[in-house]
Amino acid sequence: MTTEKPKKIKSEDIASPKGMRDILDKEYYAYQGFFEKASEIAAYYGFRPIETPILEREAVFTSSLGVGTDIRDKEMYTLKTKGGDHLVMRPEGTAGIMRAYIENGMQALPQPVMFYNYGPYFRHENPQRGRLRELRQFGLEILGTQKSIADALVIRTMTLILDEAGFKNLSVEINSIGDKECRGGYMRELTNYYKKHIAELCPACKERIKTNPLRLLDCKDARCLDLKVGAPTPIDSLCNDCRHHFKEVIEYVEEMGISYRINKNLVRGLDYYTRTVFEVIELEPDRDESGVAPLSLGGGGRYDLLAKSLGSKKDVPAVGGAIGVDRVIMSPAHKPINPRILKKPKVYFIQLGNEAKLKSFGIIETLRKAHIPIAQSLSKDGLAQQLAIAERSGAPYTIIFGQKEALDNTIIARNMETRSQETVKLADLPDFVKHLKDELK
Ligand code: HAM
Repeated sequence: MTTEKPKKIKSEDIASPKGMRDILDKEYYAYQGFFEKASEIAAYYGFRPIETPILEREAVFTSSLGVGTDIRDKEMYTLKTKGGDHLVMRPEGTAGIMRAYIENGMQALPQPVMFYNYGPYFRHENPQRGRLRELRQFGLEILGTQKSIADALVIRTMTLILDEAGFKNLSVEINSIGDKECRGGYMRELTNYYKKHIAELCPACKERIKTNPLRLLDCKDARCLDLKVGAPTPIDSLCNDCRHHFKEVIEYVEEMGISYRINKNLVRGLDYYTRTVFEVIELEPDRDESGVAPLSLGGGGRYDLLAKSLGSKKDVPAVGGAIGVDRVIMSPAHKPINPRILKKPKVYFIQLGNEAKLKSFGIIETLRKAHIPIAQSLSKDGLAQQLAIAERSGAPYTIIFGQKEALDNTIIARNMETRSQETVKLADLPDFVKHLKDELK
């Protein structure tokens, strides 16, 4: 037997981890309402749900996200299980969905296969404006087609979802970073340009020239911003097929009336992208004055080479995008959507005494079966206290079930507006509830 005294726990020892938080009450419903609406819109556009594990084998991400990307090199939560497996708390959803597509033999299905998914992701970033360590995304993926209309469909569905969530001033920043045909030549050109200016670069970019030159275009360091102006851009080096593909995507986006801007320096933080890359931002009229760069509400692109990096023998052309739901919920432009589960109570249920308490569950169940949302305070005892809460709840009806009623097998139903009351036999409760339901419609 151990005689060691238990250590006194301080509140900071058990506080929620940095960058992760509890979601409750109104905020919980806002997330739930958003996911419901987003899923509904995605389903109308032909996407089907998928859920993949939160933990994946490390190789799913190390082989796909790209050496020299922050997400892969610095931000993954990795762990070794007792059995010796190296697992990762998924930092993003696309690699896991492609893994699931390959593992479940979905190449054999009619193509493309379209998925929507939502859930938590984990990135060990420095928590700051719009950056959490546990973040939630709503994602869309279309696997098995290289058609430009698929790129447009993802952009369209994402902007529609954001529009429904209250964002009326969206803009899509879009670019094409080419495919394996044109990428090689462009990378050489880019590296040559930066090598000439190596002394002027920030230390991280000096490293990026070797590991991942494309990321040089994404650097926000003042030393590198000026150099970026003269750097060759991917879009100017596109091969004919890529140029044609990009032109078609832009035509669709224009046809749909989506406001967009071609951003020649947009490369995104993940390496699996080919051709189309995009980010959705909310334009704010006073943004220019504040000087704060807009946060992207969502981003995505085409990833035609990802499948092979995950061991597929055949390429699987694919495109997708994900909305950062925390950024949506925290934005002042967001208009919360009530989830279907959130219903205003129509009846407040009051009980008094042991006998009544015992029988309460039967009455509540009758109301639930009739789909009448209720509120109650089963753990309270006094009539005055419960009536006061009933009054505040705004429920149009109160059911009072006291000691006498419990013995007589009746309830008292009180109309809170007219203050009229009637006594109803428990046996007649289902009929009464039906009539109540019609009245409350
Ligand atoms: P991502 O750009 O890394 O793309 O993330 C998508 C969105 O998630 C971002 O636009 C942002 O709104 C949100 N987000 C990212 N990091 C954080 C963070 N630390 N805290 C809060 N929100 C954040 C992807 O993850 C790709 N898998 C998207 C995709 C799907 N590409 C193709 N298919």
